[in-house]
Amino acid sequence: MYCLVTKPWEIEAFTASHETKDYRESIFSQGNGYMGVRGYSPNGTKSNNAERTTFISGFFEYIRPGITDMVNQPDFSSSRILINGIDINEMRISDYKQVLNMRNGALLWSYTVTDTEGRRTKVKMTRFLSMANKHTAAIRFEITPENHDGDITIETGIDANVINLPIADNQLSDNIDFVTMWGRAKACSNGIQGGIVAETGISKRVTAMEYYIYIPEAYEAAAEADKKRRYAGSIIRLSGKQGNSYIIDKLISVATYRDGSDPKNIARMQLESCIETGFDGMLAESSKAWERIWELSDVEVDADGELQGAIRYNILQLIQSDPCDDPHASIGARGLMHGRYKGCYFWDTEIFMLPMFLSTNPEAAKNLLLYRYHTLEDAVKSARSFSLSGARYPWMASDTGFEQCETWDTGCCEIHITADITYAISRYIEQTGDKEFLRDYAAEIYIQTARYWAHRFTYDVKNDCYNLLFVKGPDEYCGVTVNNFYTVKMALHNLALALDSVQIMEKEFPKEWEGLKARTQYRPEEAKLWRDITEKAVTYYDEQRELWLQDSLFESLEPIDITAYKDDDVPLYHKISYDRLQRYQVLKQADVLMYMALFPKEFTRNQLLAAWNYYEPKTLHDSTLSFGIHAMLAARLNITDKAWSYFLKSLFLDLKNVMKNTQKEGIHTAALGASWQALIYGFAGVWADSQGISCNPNLPKEIRKMKFKIHYQKALYEVKVEQGRKPNIILLSI
Ligand code: BGC
Repeated sequence: MYCLVTKPWEIEAFTASHETKDYRESIFSQGNGYMGVRGYSPNGTKSNNAERTTFISGFFEYIRPGITDMVNQPDFSSSRILINGIDINEMRISDYKQVLNMRNGALLWSYTVTDTEGRRTKVKMTRFLSMANKHTAAIRFEITPENHDGDITIETGIDANVINLPIADNQLSDNIDFVTMWGRAKACSNGIQGGIVAETGISKRVTAMEYYIYIPEAYEAAAEADKKRRYAGSIIRLSGKQGNSYIIDKLISVATYRDGSDPKNIARMQLESCIETGFDGMLAESSKAWERIWELSDVEVDADGELQGAIRYNILQLIQSDPCDDPHASIGARGLMHGRYKGCYFWDTEIFMLPMFLSTNPEAAKNLLLYRYHTLEDAVKSARSFSLSGARYPWMASDTGFEQCETWDTGCCEIHITADITYAISRYIEQTGDKEFLRDYAAEIYIQTARYWAHRFTYDVKNDCYNLLFVKGPDEYCGVTVNNFYTVKMALHNLALALDSVQIMEKEFPKEWEGLKARTQYRPEEAKLWRDITEKAVTYYDEQRELWLQDSLFESLEPIDITAYKDDDVPLYHKISYDRLQRYQVLKQADVLMYMALFPKEFTRNQLLAAWNYYEPKTLHDSTLSFGIHAMLAARLNITDKAWSYFLKSLFLDLKNVMKNTQKEGIHTAALGASWQALIYGFAGVWADSQGISCNPNLPKEIRKMKFKIHYQKALYEVKVEQGRKPNIILLSI
């Protein structure tokens, strides 16, 4: 399956083999945060119509009452190339090369096709989704008949004949039930220009796409629009001469109901600007925008092999998935690259991905958090539906704050997400110093979520303590348990944030505080209860072993030797039933260690080591979120061999298909973020909070030096870390 070469700024593949097709389509996924496409070839794909995906951030539709799926959008790449009337997909392919240019996100296919009569034609295609104008994209076809004069035909257009494949979120079953999301579609074309306006079946959500074809040669063009098939396209014919290259550019614009009341008009205006700028101009503008992004986001390493390229690939895919300036959408567990988990947002965003944005683009981090503010009202309603007060954020979220998880134990009990969100908000405020965010948004979220926790803990009158019952921690192999350490500690942090924010609001923002009190109907006795819980909530600590225990049941689970069961990185739930795993003393992913990773100053070295030595050997890493966090902790603890091997698994998770599911599931966005954290928080040893930025490197021998930028309290710094030298934090601008 591994068929890639990772260079410092390029990912290349040299095979068009069928076995690697889905895998390459995942790896070469492209996006600009507004929209994303899997890396399938514009020139037809053998993929089924549910794998030929184009997703738009925040665009969901109902598939059953209350449950949404991220909508597979009309396919703007849709094309077919024929030489002398023969589809090039039917010809022999040689010299195949596919290159993703990570400097500007452009993807190139280059190969030669030969028909049965020995007529050779060189085919090149380049596609990019503009980072400068996110509503636009472009594809260039370059056809060169090498040893013959031949008729070149390009059929190209926009195809709304795509379907969705809502995949169950229980990780075990593959779904085979396709869903058609699109209802009415209007298509039109005039030969070199055309468009489609499609409307989803239930909520009537509209997408408008337009295209324009530019050909510098004499050609014939015919329109092809078919309302029934939901397709608008053109057929272009040229007489090709041996040795000449023929360039055909397709310029594309996209707008949806999320962009305004008249998406068609927006798409049309965007297309006009594309026509004015042309393919080369659009690519130059997009490359400039990428250049600015890389100036702030790049992590330069001096290391051998594929490391530099893999680091950039992780960063690139995070950026491609981030809606960036849109405060009403977040990043799904597979970004815009795959429909797994119905495109939903998890704690993956706040805990795993957000740190990179916080350091490289604080405005983007702010918008990810604003998405949660905008779904607060739904989270309040959602708490009510669980017979609780306050705000309960969903384990899986889409365009609302209502629960999308349909697996009952996870959906009902994996409640740490609410406190994960408030933790992320507090990290944002500490690192940026953005007090207005606290005043305008965070204080309200803190109060409503603290209220939820106060109601969710159960008071034990006999022992005068508070228990968190019926709960599932990040280690999803722990059954439904009592007082999960991670969840209790995160909830207490959430309560402490609410208590602090009440004081800050009272003191620093008295006018706004009056408004907030009235809006939330806050009562001072609530704070008393919150404080009481922070003092009396139950967690389990073994003094002798200096060990924090995961929950009340962990030590009564059946111990097993995991090496007897697991000899590769494929999740064990494929071999042992999910249900059985709940009763073994094994972890799916970091749990106590996860909390320790988030609060590096809270524990002694002995406590960290005790937890590492106890939990790490019991951890299966059946979630892609696990490797990077273990790498980061191992680096902080100076366990260098483990730090390095976990880091490589996280960094190359998709590039080397470590878990053997990239072809089927797309890119794992949380792992991308965890790799960044392992690198910056682990190896470079950086930490930024209200007390300042610190840098205590734990550089592995494989990295000779590294350099990157970090935003802290409205200033921009450059951090340089080198073997055998003191780290350097340089102020670049304020
Ligand atoms: C993990 C969760 C994660 C989800 C989405 C699950 O396998 O256990 O922690 O949030 O995948 O990535």
